[in-house]
Amino acid sequence: MCGIVGCKGNMDLRKYLINGLKDLDYRGYDSAGIAFILKEKINVYKFKGTVENLESKIPNHIDSDIGIGHTRWATHGVPNDTNAHPHLSFHQHFAIVHNGVIENYKDIKDELIQQGFEFKSETDSEAIVNLIEYYYLQNNDVLKSLFLIGQKLKGSFAIALLHESEPDKLYFYKQASPLLIGVSNDFNLLASDAAPMIKLTKKFIDLEDGQYGYLTSTNQFLFCNGRPIDIVYSNKEPELLVKDLNGYPHFMLKEIEEIDIVIKRIMNHYFYEDKFHFDSKLIEAINECDHVTFIACGTSYHASLIGARYFESLEKNTSVFIASEWAYYPKFLGNKTLYIMLSQSGETADSIRCMQMLSKLGAPILVVTNTKGSTMERNATYSLLLYAGLEVAVASTKAYSAMITTLALLCEACKNNIDVIDDLNNVCKSIRKIYFQKEQILQIARQIKNSPDVFFLGRGYDYEMSLEASLKLKEISYIHSEGVPGGELKHGPIALIDKNVPVIVFISDKIVALSMRGNIKEVESRGAKTFIISSRSLKHEGDAFVVDDTPIYLSPLLKSIFAFYLAYFVSLEKGLNVDKPRNLAKAVTVE
Ligand code: G6P
Repeated sequence: MCGIVGCKGNMDLRKYLINGLKDLDYRGYDSAGIAFILKEKINVYKFKGTVENLESKIPNHIDSDIGIGHTRWATHGVPNDTNAHPHLSFHQHFAIVHNGVIENYKDIKDELIQQGFEFKSETDSEAIVNLIEYYYLQNNDVLKSLFLIGQKLKGSFAIALLHESEPDKLYFYKQASPLLIGVSNDFNLLASDAAPMIKLTKKFIDLEDGQYGYLTSTNQFLFCNGRPIDIVYSNKEPELLVKDLNGYPHFMLKEIEEIDIVIKRIMNHYFYEDKFHFDSKLIEAINECDHVTFIACGTSYHASLIGARYFESLEKNTSVFIASEWAYYPKFLGNKTLYIMLSQSGETADSIRCMQMLSKLGAPILVVTNTKGSTMERNATYSLLLYAGLEVAVASTKAYSAMITTLALLCEACKNNIDVIDDLNNVCKSIRKIYFQKEQILQIARQIKNSPDVFFLGRGYDYEMSLEASLKLKEISYIHSEGVPGGELKHGPIALIDKNVPVIVFISDKIVALSMRGNIKEVESRGAKTFIISSRSLKHEGDAFVVDDTPIYLSPLLKSIFAFYLAYFVSLEKGLNVDKPRNLAKAVTVE
């Protein structure tokens, strides 16, 4: 989703804005633009298309020390040059970049049109910059105008703002969309996440909702509700945030092949000196709750399904909800419920909405996220970091594995079962073996790449993993696919099976292996080409891919490596954009 960058001070502005936008491009976008102040005039360059396209059209040298930039993921209005950000205000005193959605922008636009303002774009963002200008023309005070927009706008808005007659101040506002400030001695930066800034500074300000202010070259000024507030600085770990392909052709491949390292890193954080190291209050909260409710989106929802099984092994009742569903149809299952929210980004709007509803009720929330300082992490009762490093490919891989690993460790810590460490070490070895067998998965990818539909079958953990395998394939290969529980096949999906539909079957659990072999016969007798992915002790001759045996609760960590590679190779074979699939965004910061 939209990405914002901004800078003020002694630095190479062109380089920061362009490279910063490239660092944010993994979030997904369709147009890009920058604005800067030169001789008290705001210059804007914005185009539909890539940051590289923008780069080729802007001056080679920009003699300014204040600027903003944006990658837009269209919500209001088609992707075109006019709707691209930055947007100038009607009288051209201000330029804005915005991430979020303004729910009442139509009313504001109508009111401003009555006041003589004219609009050029179809965006909600233009209403913000014109509203600021409207207030400013009355009160001659940008800070006051920012305070006033905070009262008036409904929705989410992280903004960076230039004022043509104040080239010494880079203004900003954060409300329900991500925005961070990067601090240095003679320049200050802002961006939607740390990736663009981490090469230049380790010192950050994680803005809270409702905070606004401005940056000068050497200082930061922060306000909330019309009053100055004290600034809290934080440090971030550069090695986990740098966006670097490290010789790989795609981020997705690199991220798949980091999974063993990520699992080890998580183990090192939560288990050392022969002991688990989790917040004792969290363990107490788990011991005391009757019910665990997971709420998440996308891949994080699929990891939650696995996590719920872990909590069932602690004899908890569990439920798992999709955040955008729970937000409108919430279910409260008793006072002794612990809510667990998984989110790679920690900024997913649907999940944040649920969190806000729960926080109002004072419910305990454990957030498991890869993003330190994210909105969800900061507002959680308890939080666990995933230490997976920056995940750039839109299709999530290592974050899924990291979530499963972290939840497995947490639940085994509650049982004080340190065998999980040996189990995970063995899983890492088995994962590395799969890295060396990926050529076999490429061969399978070649056989399914032209199919219109693909089915994934499994039972138990394999079923939940099938959902993720299917999501991964459809996200980056654009092949329609479904994950189906083996037993449900005959209740509907089998009607779609014929010789054109490959069926990929996972067999990890002895107790359902026979039933799964029965399902295979059912689809094969309808002409389907099957690919069986089994665990070593359950393998039959002719199985397409065999992985090592592992305790069943960790099997998703192994089978998912197969699934990730499969999606990757199909996308690659089809000549598609593996890392940036069409229409999708990495961090979905609008509802
Ligand atoms: C988007 C991403 C998915 C991700 C989902 C939830 O749809 O493309 O990869 O699983 O958001 O994101 P979260 O950051 O909350 O895990």
